[in-house]
Amino acid sequence: MPFPDRAEIQVAESVQSVRDAVSRAKWSGHRVGFVPTMGALHVGHVSLIERARRECGYVAVSIFVNPTQFGPNEDFNRYPRPRDADLAMCRDAGADLVFYPTVETMYPVGHRTFVEVAGLSEILEGAIRPGHFRGVTTVVTKLFNIVQADRAYFGQKDYQQQSVIRVMARELDMPTDVVTCETIRDPDGLALSSRNAYLSESERKSGLALSRALRLAERLAGEGELDIPTLESAMRNELENTPGVTLEYAVIVNHESMRELTAAEPRMVALVAARVGSTRLIDNMILRLPSGTIT
Ligand code: PAF
Repeated sequence: MPFPDRAEIQVAESVQSVRDAVSRAKWSGHRVGFVPTMGALHVGHVSLIERARRECGYVAVSIFVNPTQFGPNEDFNRYPRPRDADLAMCRDAGADLVFYPTVETMYPVGHRTFVEVAGLSEILEGAIRPGHFRGVTTVVTKLFNIVQADRAYFGQKDYQQQSVIRVMARELDMPTDVVTCETIRDPDGLALSSRNAYLSESERKSGLALSRALRLAERLAGEGELDIPTLESAMRNELENTPGVTLEYAVIVNHESMRELTAAEPRMVALVAARVGSTRLIDNMILRLPSGTIT
């Protein structure tokens, strides 16, 4: 019989049952892939699970709405939790195991240990959402320790998150490789996000300003525009001139350090964040300059 039986998906609620299942997979010689999520799964998550499936013999997904990464006035309570639909999507995408812990399993009363990547966690998203990345790096550390995967898959959509996790994994010598996968978009350009479910039809239309702003910067840079303030103000204008959109930031940063740039570099990322109604949206695009423009 092939290992494991693909018609089955194991739902594990305890740390020990995840450890047992992963140990069996490793004993059978499988590479273990891991996709951490907060559920409310969409095609973007499915693409991560499918990539893990292609690259690994055993695929684990976690579904946990992590309270420590939400601020006091954020959407922790209303974050969607469609358990049955999520489990069906994991199964259909080819996952072998879903870790579905309770808050008490992840944070027993008295929990007091946190992981933080200094500096990188305090800029951009971290400046607007204080403590957010501390919650992310703490829960991802715990999940990495529980699953002990060979590879973990994250979306480029949360660019700063994957940067923070990549630095954490490197500096703490974690044995799990961090793999970043391209952003999946609706045909009109909106980057997929579980929070898109909060948008009304007209807010969704306004939200398209984020990808329009990024595409504009991408096109200008591709045509050889190297002046960073010009690129940033083109993005800002696009967002500020769209009714219903409140701009938070539109910046161009170094692809690794996420330091805001004043002069063009070969590898840059444009990042935007805005509020549409009561929903925060973020998006980003890697900017490619015409070859030979700068070295
Ligand atoms: O990107 C997410 O869904 C979450 O931030 C993560 C990485 C699962 C940690 O809770």
